[in-house]
Amino acid sequence: MDRVRVELGQRSYAISVGAGCLGHTLEAILGQLEPTSVHVVTHPALWRSWSGSLGSTASGAGVTLLRPGERHKHLGAVASILRGLADRGADRRCVVVALGGGVVGDVAGFASACYLRGVRFVQVPTTLLAQVDASVGGKTGVDLPQGKNLAGAFHQPSAVVIDTATLATLPPRHMRSGMAEILKHGIIADEAYFEFVTSRGARRWRPLPDWLEPVIAQSCRIKASVVSQDEREGGLRAILNFGHTVGHAIETLTQYREFSHGEAVAIGMVSAALVSERVCGAPADLVRRVMDGLSAYGLPWSLPPSCSDGEIVRVAMHDKKSSGGVLRMALTPGVGHATAMPVDAPILLDSLCRHRSLRPVGHGYG
Ligand code: GLY
Repeated sequence: MDRVRVELGQRSYAISVGAGCLGHTLEAILGQLEPTSVHVVTHPALWRSWSGSLGSTASGAGVTLLRPGERHKHLGAVASILRGLADRGADRRCVVVALGGGVVGDVAGFASACYLRGVRFVQVPTTLLAQVDASVGGKTGVDLPQGKNLAGAFHQPSAVVIDTATLATLPPRHMRSGMAEILKHGIIADEAYFEFVTSRGARRWRPLPDWLEPVIAQSCRIKASVVSQDEREGGLRAILNFGHTVGHAIETLTQYREFSHGEAVAIGMVSAALVSERVCGAPADLVRRVMDGLSAYGLPWSLPPSCSDGEIVRVAMHDKKSSGGVLRMALTPGVGHATAMPVDAPILLDSLCRHRSLRPVGHGYG
C-alpha cells in the first residue's frame, strides 16, 4: 500500500492507496479518530456493493443515501445530510465518511464543514477522477442554479482512503476522465511521470493495469505538494486548473451533456498548450506531446464544432477564476512546469483558431 501525506500543519492528513485496503484502513483510521458516531454518505448502488467491505464501520453507522449525478449536487442534498446528522443526535466528535465519486465527496465535505460549524470527515473516493483530484485538497461545495461550485468551503478531510478495487466496475469513459487529470499532473509538475503515463496507454481497463496504483499515488503526491504550499488558492494552486479554462467553457456551452469533465479538460489542455506557446515561450513540440498523451487513452482533443471560438472566450472571461475582467490561465513553459498568468482575449482567440486547424497524425487523434 502507498501512503502520501498532505502537509498542512495541524490539519495534515494521510492518503492511503491500495487494492482491497478499504475495510481495514478505514477501521484503523476510525480507531485513531475515536468518533462518538459514524455517518456514511453514499449512493444506494455503492452502499449495496461496498457496505460489506466497510467492516465494523458499517454496523452501527448512520447512512444518508444521495441520488447520483452532478444535477443532485445542490443545497437540498446538503440539507438532507445535515438533517440526518441532527436526527441521529450527532455531536462535534462524530465522523462523516464520504463513499463515492466527486459529487458525494463535495456534498458530504460541505455538510461536514457546516454541521456544528465543522465536524471531521473521511474521503473514500470510488472513481479515478475523485481519487486523483476532488478527494484531495479540501475543496467542498455545491452548485447553485447560477453556476457550478458557487457555494462551498475549504474543509480538509481527516484522511483519504483510496481502494483501487472500487475501480474494477467503473465504465471506461470514467477511467478516461481520470486519466486526463493524471496527464495534467505530469504536464504541470513532473515530466518523467508524464512520459511514463503516455508510454503506458490504455483503452481497456479489465483487468486493472498494475501501474495504476503507483500512478494514483504519484498524482496524489503532486496534488498534495501543491495544496500544502497554497491551500486556499492564493496563487500556486491555480496551476491545477491547467486545461480547465477552455474545458469549463466547453462544459458550460454544451450544458454538461456532450463531454465528461475529463474529456472537456483534455480538449482544454490542448488550447492551454497553444496559449503557452504564445505567452510563455513553450517549445514547439508541446502541443504534439499533449495530444500524444491524450490519444494514448482515447481522449478527445479537438474543439467541438458546436462551440464557436467567440463563445468560448466569452464564457472563459466570465469564469469565476477570472477577476476584474482579467482572464488568468494556468500555462506551462514546458512539460513538468506550470504557472498562472493573465491572458488577453485576442491571444486566447488566436490560440483557439490555431487549435481548430490542428490535424491528426499517425494513429487517429481526436
Ligand atoms: N481541482 C483543483 C483544486 O483542487 O484546486
